[in-house]
Amino acid sequence: MEQNKQKNILEIKRYPDSILRKKSLSISEIMLKDVELLEDMLLTMYTLNGIGLAAPQVGCSVQIIVADVGEGPIKLINPRIVKAKGEDKLTEGCLSVPDINVDVKRPYEIIIEALNGKGEPVEIKADGLLARVIQHEIDHLKGRLIVDYMGMIDKMKLMKLNKNRRQS
Ligand code: NI
Repeated sequence: MEQNKQKNILEIKRYPDSILRKKSLSISEIMLKDVELLEDMLLTMYTLNGIGLAAPQVGCSVQIIVADVGEGPIKLINPRIVKAKGEDKLTEGCLSVPDINVDVKRPYEIIIEALNGKGEPVEIKADGLLARVIQHEIDHLKGRLIVDYMGMIDKMKLMKLNKNRRQS
């Protein structure tokens, strides 16, 4: 008999879906559905060759993110940046904003407090790519997207692209 629930690949919400702009709720008590969501998000991220994913991107307005920059899966609940240091500029993409790349300045090194996938409090020190991905995903929990870091000209190009998409 199958004891584990079947994992699902979830549908990615795309810009300008309004759920991507909502502030996510923190989780006070971890339930089975949250654990299942973490697993489904990881499967979805790996399937789409992403390196990070936030719950609002799959239609759930809760403070859950996953990431893997090649060092193994990271699951974080209610993540909070408690320290940030340095500065780094890198081009970012987002599964919810396909075909768009934006240069984003962010701190290079961060310390995060969160709950892990088992609901235990953890403190994580991250730098480089992992720090970047975690900050990008925490942005999602606040309703912030890479388009918010765009300059005026790039934003106009994006609006034109969206217009063309609607027409086709
Ligand atoms: Ni994203």
